[in-house]
Amino acid sequence: MQNGFIQIYQRNAEAICGEIAAGLLAPNAWISPKYLYDGLGSKLFAAICELPEYYPTRTEAQILERCCSDIARSTGRGATLIDLGAGNCEKAARLFSAVQPAHYVPIDISVDFLRDAVESLRYRFPQIRMTGLGMDFSRSLELPDAVPREKRLFFYPGSSIGNFMPEEAAAFLGRVREACRADGGLLIGVDLLKHEELLQDAYDDAIGLTAAFNLNMLQHINHLLKADFRPRDWRHVSRFNAGESRIELHLEARRDLTVVWEGGSRHFAQGERIHTENSYKYTPERFLQLLERAGFGRVSKWIDPQGWFMLCHARAA
Ligand code: AVJ
Repeated sequence: MQNGFIQIYQRNAEAICGEIAAGLLAPNAWISPKYLYDGLGSKLFAAICELPEYYPTRTEAQILERCCSDIARSTGRGATLIDLGAGNCEKAARLFSAVQPAHYVPIDISVDFLRDAVESLRYRFPQIRMTGLGMDFSRSLELPDAVPREKRLFFYPGSSIGNFMPEEAAAFLGRVREACRADGGLLIGVDLLKHEELLQDAYDDAIGLTAAFNLNMLQHINHLLKADFRPRDWRHVSRFNAGESRIELHLEARRDLTVVWEGGSRHFAQGERIHTENSYKYTPERFLQLLERAGFGRVSKWIDPQGWFMLCHARAA
């Protein structure tokens, strides 16, 4: 098969519901941020990336554009470009002319959204072989045989690594390192620690897109868990946790309420919260340490003039 799309059901619906229910029943309720991305959630995130307040996407794109020949020199050409959390595939498409991958493998948990994105990309870049993968790569990076083992270049842009706690991030990067083998590498974007007000605005924008993105998760959970969340009963909360160096997103109950789902229920008092996302902000030094711990070495890095965002190319140590 020259071009294809492979959907991998790694975990059955029962396991997914079990994980979500366990989070809802925890003393401090939580839901994994991967459930932000149903069809509408992926579209809302793409819209967030165009907001004036949301600097990461823009800043990363500037770095990619300004430094593309440097980046290509570091990564080499003709790689299998494996895009972790590809979304609309726009970030990778910006790399294509400089990095000239032989094979593009976009991976995303939001399967239908990805399928549409890959479909239109094939027309724009008919010379690049493409294999879309619908899977949750956060648990396992075991890739199907259709993905070549040689010259793998993993691409993890947008500071999605910030969703992991530092310990988990190190473990995840270790798995990427394994999947790279000796001749592969990782091109990763990392949001840097900066003035708190800039961070606050980026996660609580004036027109409420981030609030909609956060609240939409409840509709996705209703669908997955057959739950009866009413988004109107909840409020988007974002705050910077300086001690942990992270932005946190929460959903806060506007009144006392009980949520019921198939096989369970939970009461929430007014003001009680569900923690829905962490977005860690790193200093360059701390992130480079993390790459080193994961078994990467020979890191090239590029930072924008304002010092807001960093792109790294890391190779096997
Ligand atoms: C996709 C995880 C990088 O943390 O900035 C954007 C997600 N959440 N606005 C981020 C997000 C709220 C985003 N990542």
